[in-house]
Amino acid sequence: MILMKNLMLVSILTFSLLLSLPSSFPKNFSSYTSHLNKRHDAKVYDIIISKEKLAPDGFTREMYTINGQFLGPLIEVNKGDTLVLNVYNDLEDETSIHSHGMFQRGTPWYDGVPGQTQRGIPSKKSFAYEFKVNQSGTYWYHSHSNAQYIEGIVGPLIAYDPDDPYLEDYDDEIIVLLQDWYHNDSKTLLTAFMNPANVNGNEPTPDNGLINGKNSYNCSWAPAGSKCVSDAPLALFKFVQGKRYRIRIINTSAFAEFIFSIDEHPMDVIEVEGMMTKRHTIHRLPINIAQRYSVIITANQTIGKYWMRSEMETTCLATQSDQLNPLVKAIVEYEGYDNDGDPKSVAWAEAPENCVDLDSSNLKPYKEQNIPDVDYKLTIDVNFHPDNNGIVRGYINNSTYILDAKYPTLYKVFNNVNEYTADQNVYIIEKNKVVDIILSNNDTGIHPFHLHGHVFWVLGIGQNGTSPDYKFLNTKDPVQRDTVTVPAQGWAVLRFVSDNPGVWGFHCHIEWHVQSGLVMEFVTQPDKIRELKAPYEWKQL
Ligand code: C2O
Repeated sequence: MILMKNLMLVSILTFSLLLSLPSSFPKNFSSYTSHLNKRHDAKVYDIIISKEKLAPDGFTREMYTINGQFLGPLIEVNKGDTLVLNVYNDLEDETSIHSHGMFQRGTPWYDGVPGQTQRGIPSKKSFAYEFKVNQSGTYWYHSHSNAQYIEGIVGPLIAYDPDDPYLEDYDDEIIVLLQDWYHNDSKTLLTAFMNPANVNGNEPTPDNGLINGKNSYNCSWAPAGSKCVSDAPLALFKFVQGKRYRIRIINTSAFAEFIFSIDEHPMDVIEVEGMMTKRHTIHRLPINIAQRYSVIITANQTIGKYWMRSEMETTCLATQSDQLNPLVKAIVEYEGYDNDGDPKSVAWAEAPENCVDLDSSNLKPYKEQNIPDVDYKLTIDVNFHPDNNGIVRGYINNSTYILDAKYPTLYKVFNNVNEYTADQNVYIIEKNKVVDIILSNNDTGIHPFHLHGHVFWVLGIGQNGTSPDYKFLNTKDPVQRDTVTVPAQGWAVLRFVSDNPGVWGFHCHIEWHVQSGLVMEFVTQPDKIRELKAPYEWKQL
C-alpha cells in the first residue's frame, strides 16, 4: 500500500520538482527523494485518528485507523526540516503521537508521552506536534496512549540525509513494516492480562503477524460468527532485475520479535536506527519490537517470484498457540514475470539464535567515533511479581510505574517540583553527563528496552549466567541505537550522554510491559528545561 502510494507520488511530483529544484540541490541526491517538496522546509502531515472496521488479514474487526487507512501514512522529511503533525482525535478516549527515535532537542513537550511529557489529546480535539528533525534514518510513529498503537495507530517515519554515504549504492527504497496482530481489542486483552487470575503474568499471544498491514489467516481458527475470509492477499513488492534496493525494516509489534529474510537474496546491513554501519552481509535478520534496520538487496536473481519471510520467534512468547501461523509471508515479484502461482523459492538454511538481537560484534559504525568515558553508573534491576492485589506487574529497582495522567512530569518540572513519588520512577540527571545504564534482567523473558530522546552505545549484552565486566565491554566501536534486547535473565550495558534537557522515558517496548509498569523516566537537566519556552497549546492540554 505504501509502496503504491509512493510510486504515484513520485511520478506526480517528479515533474514539478524538475522545474523547481534549487541550484544548491546536491547532485548525488537520488531520485527517490525527489517527491519531497523542498529541503529544509516544514513538512506538514494531518493525522486523523478514528475507529473503523477493517480486515488486514481477512478477519474483520474494529480497529484504529489514521486518515481512514491502515497503515498510517508514510511521513518523510529531510534532515534539517521541521516536521508538523496535526493530530485530530476522533476517538472517545484520549490519544497521543510519539515519534519514535526523534531526539526532540529543544522541544521535549512534543515527545508524545502521556504521564511524562504531556496530557493526552482529549476526544474530538486536536494538537499539533512541531519539531526540528536534525537526524536521519528509519523511524516510526505511534500512539503512546494505553495500548492503542497495537490496534493500528502506527506508521513509518523516514528522515532522508542528502549526505547519506550509501546514496550511490541503491536505486530505490522499500519500506517493510512488520507487526504482530491480535483479533481482540487491546482493552479486552489488557483486562485479561492484568488480572489476579493470570497468576504467571503470561502476555497475550498474537493471533497473526502482518507485513505492511497484510497477511492471510486460517479462518477455521476464528471464533464462530466472526466475519473472516481465508485468502486475504499478501503484501506484494516489485523488483526490477538489476536494481539495488534499500529496504527499511521496522518492527512495530506489541510482543513479537521477527526474523526477516528474502529467499535467495542476501542483504547488506547499512543502518541501525539512524546510525550508518559498514556493509555487513547476512541472510536472516532478527528484529525486535521498535527496532529498525536498513539493508541493501540487489535484484540479481532469475526473473520470478520469491518469498519475503517474517518469522515470529514464538519461543520468546509466554505461551505457545497451535492457532498461530508464525511464518508471515509477502511476495517479491520481478517485473516481467507473469505467472499466477505462489513463489517456489527456498528459504535460507541457517537459523539465527532465537530471542536475541542481531550479533552486533559484526556491525561497525560507518564513521569512527570517540566514546566518552563514563561519569555516572546507574544500576537497573528488572523484575516481575504480583502486587498487593495479586496482579503481576513489572518492577524497575523494585518500583512499578504508575502513570500520572493529570499531572505529567514535564509540567511538574516547569512548576519547580523537585521531588517525585516513588511510583513515578524518576531519575534526575542534573548536568550534562555520560551515563551508563547497567541493566540486569531477572525475568525469564526478553525485554527490548527503548530510551526516548537519545541513542545509546551498546557496550555489551550478556546471556543468562554471565554478568557485566567493564574489562570486556566494547568502548571502541559499539553500535549506537535506541532500542536493545536484554536477554532473558541476562544483562546489557548502555552508555548515553545526558545533553538533551527534557523528560525521557526508558521502558521495555513490549506493550504489555509498558502497561504493567516496566517504565522509568529521566528528568535531564531540569534547570535547562525551565529555560525553554513551552508552547501555550501544550500547557492548555
Ligand atoms: Cu516507541 Cu516510549 O516508545
